[in-house]
Amino acid sequence: MISLRRSGLLAVTLPGLLLLAACGNNPSAEQTSTSAASAPADTAQTKSTAMPTSASFGKTTDGTEVQLYTLTNANGVKATITNYGGTLTSLLVPDKDGKLGDVILGFDNVSGYQSPEFLKAGPYFGALIGRYGNRIKGGKFTLEGKEYNLAKNNGPNSLHGGLKGFDKVVWQAEPGSSADGQSLKLTYVSKDGEEGYPGTLNVAVVYTLTADNALKIDYTATTDKATVVNLTNHAYFNLNHGAGKDVLNHEVTLPADRYTVVDATLIPTGELRPVKGTPFDFTTPHAIGERIAQVPGGYDHNWVLNTATGEHAAATVYDPATGRTLEVTTDQPGIQFYTGNFLDGTLKGKGGTVYGKHAGFCLETQHFPDSPNQPKFPSTELKPGETYHTVSTYKFGVRK
Ligand code: BGC
Repeated sequence: MISLRRSGLLAVTLPGLLLLAACGNNPSAEQTSTSAASAPADTAQTKSTAMPTSASFGKTTDGTEVQLYTLTNANGVKATITNYGGTLTSLLVPDKDGKLGDVILGFDNVSGYQSPEFLKAGPYFGALIGRYGNRIKGGKFTLEGKEYNLAKNNGPNSLHGGLKGFDKVVWQAEPGSSADGQSLKLTYVSKDGEEGYPGTLNVAVVYTLTADNALKIDYTATTDKATVVNLTNHAYFNLNHGAGKDVLNHEVTLPADRYTVVDATLIPTGELRPVKGTPFDFTTPHAIGERIAQVPGGYDHNWVLNTATGEHAAATVYDPATGRTLEVTTDQPGIQFYTGNFLDGTLKGKGGTVYGKHAGFCLETQHFPDSPNQPKFPSTELKPGETYHTVSTYKFGVRK
């Protein structure tokens, strides 16, 4: 069924497209927790065949009740995801002494994600990003001879899908369980013209928590008109979140010999510059804080991964304080490494943690920013009859 891989996007002819569109309604808390609730609590939590549990995450400002789903594996690792924005709100993983701790920045309920301060700051904690991850210059692009004008929400540019991107919509949710682990399938239909993008886009994102402590994110999309797509997740990691410290001591490796140089509004100039001899060289491990002062504003760039297709390494992170490690793999050609430069202490998250500058870092697997206006970058175009499909994995471990 897979017909071709074109321009870095997996193009598939899929008769089963209807499946995506036909995903069920968002089940209520009672419905989704049926199998977990009917089994003893501890069995539900430890058996990989058990379904994820769910509970209310509160009401959105327009009165819609949203859920928080908890995926658990046999090691006690837990991922919580809400269908508001498809947001990953917490991830409990062991440290070098086996102690579970949360490594994700976020809030305890949906109102945190909808507070005026959060919306003004626009950090997109843990959210699914679409239709287009990162910036599109001037909020416009031309496709098949037609110019499209997008919602501009970042100075002159469009960022992360516009004013109401996929991070701010309520997704349909379908909890599941398979030999791979517990999962949550989220679906959303983005209307033709939404935020200025052409084509009705049917999107499905499946989060799976695997037995080896990895959170796998599988993204699929189809369209009925030529459009552009670049989906990612915007989790902020801090492998020592509970300590309320910044991430400058975390050691990062990025298997990328080049990065995309940006202008003053963070739009790529088109130049792919070698990292060698610069503070952007993470081909060997470096603490985030080691050279960050040499990068005006901090790291907020797209690295050009040395391997562009097939599953490949995208990043490795090690926190010497807790011994926790994070390995990111993807099939995408780029990764946005962002060091929470715009966090300024105004947001208070889970457990009252104050999110100051560099309180977390993001590793957004993606196609390069502004690809729709950069003919030399791998294409982000999606045509009717093709299927956009990409998988990224965030795997946790420890180093003693
Ligand atoms: C962007 C940053 C932006 C952040 C939060 C990142 O993907 O590259 O410039 O501030 O998202 O919106």
